[in-house]
Amino acid sequence: MIPTLATPDSSVPFVADGYRYISSTCDRIGSDAFRTRLMGRPVVCIRGAEAARLFYEGGRFDRAGAMPPSVLHLLQDVGSVQTLEDDSHRHRKGGFLALLTAGGDERMADLFAVELEAAIARWRGGDPVVLHDELGPILARTAFRWAGIPDIPEKEFHARTGELAAMVERAGTFGPLNWAARLGRHRTERWATRLIVAVRDGRVVPPAGSPLEALARWTGDDGLPLPEDVAAIELLNLLRPTVAVVRLVEFAALALSERPVHRDTVAEDPAAAARFAHEVRRRTPFFPIIAGRVRRPFSWREADFAEGDWVMLDLYGTNHDARLWPDPDRFDPDRFLTADPRHIVAQGGGDYLEDHRCPGESATNAIIAAGVRVLARASWQAEPGQDLRVTWSEMPAKIRSGLRLRFA
Ligand code: HEM
Repeated sequence: MIPTLATPDSSVPFVADGYRYISSTCDRIGSDAFRTRLMGRPVVCIRGAEAARLFYEGGRFDRAGAMPPSVLHLLQDVGSVQTLEDDSHRHRKGGFLALLTAGGDERMADLFAVELEAAIARWRGGDPVVLHDELGPILARTAFRWAGIPDIPEKEFHARTGELAAMVERAGTFGPLNWAARLGRHRTERWATRLIVAVRDGRVVPPAGSPLEALARWTGDDGLPLPEDVAAIELLNLLRPTVAVVRLVEFAALALSERPVHRDTVAEDPAAAARFAHEVRRRTPFFPIIAGRVRRPFSWREADFAEGDWVMLDLYGTNHDARLWPDPDRFDPDRFLTADPRHIVAQGGGDYLEDHRCPGESATNAIIAAGVRVLARASWQAEPGQDLRVTWSEMPAKIRSGLRLRFA
């Protein structure tokens, strides 16, 4: 049985404490699932490893209508891989995996390391830098170079970087902030569409074997070229989340600054840096939940789920579930000497090809690992007196000061 909360609607507490609301409610009522309403709409909230398997495996859920338009249009948009299922999804997803695994991930991380090292060389001996602000353009440059996008004028590059960052930073907002980010997204989509058209008609020739060259030629499962606006959306699906890794590198730098004992190990040992990165992904408050709608009726825990039912999986709570992660609030990269990093659900669960699990997961980990290795070898410290508290009410959460570091 899945209990129903007595309160008629949970929108207020959910918005106030999005990261911990589902888990703390589950703990309070002694159940991994409960029914409530959000903005008047009935929803089943679930958490834990078993719930994650239910949500991700077996094609039980799709994303259509599961996310409010304010989130969907900023993060994925209509026609993207995330809105597809079955054969069409498998076909499109295969394209992403071909680019982002088997070397594509490491190539992205290597490019990031080069960009970050060059930036540190510029910062050395100067004023302190706000890492959050500096990392956006560095990761955008990494993404553009990795994708094979020809250089664009600096002013335009900074406009695109700001738009890409706003898509993620404003996904959890409503009203004017969200509308402004959506306007920015339209500009980026128009730019990306022009680029796809220019590659297709030969006016722009990306490097041979580059993701841009491949993506411009992607076809649908009908064998026809993807509509140019859909190809553009998928190009943004490579660029936007890479820029979003800013947050994770920032939290990784904070972890390194608070625990200098790890510096030598991560600097010397790539495997230790990878474990450090996994622990950062597990612990960092990024996307609190993911929502889906039931595609076909099924039963779970003596409860019936009907077609169209709205279900929310608690990603953050599942990553902090003590049954899976002993002493979950402890920062302990060495837990991955034995624990399987595929149990982290910060970037979804299930199988990469069959389910909606993030195809950029290994690239994300490789970027964070490269970042901590570069930072561990450099000489820097966090500026005293800055506000390092995390704003839990924002989604994604952020470090208030943006992390001010002085490089010597
Ligand atoms: C900040 C780091 C990242 C986080 C927190 C993140 C998170 C996620 C999550 C939670 C999903 C699952 C969505 C669902 O279940 O519907 C997802 C899917 C996806 N991610 Fe990521 N991601 C990150 C980095 C990346 C990177 C670096 C790329 C590509 C360069 C990427 C591309 C995608 C794509 C294309 C999907 C859709 C997959 C599908 O629907 O099958 N992500 N991501």
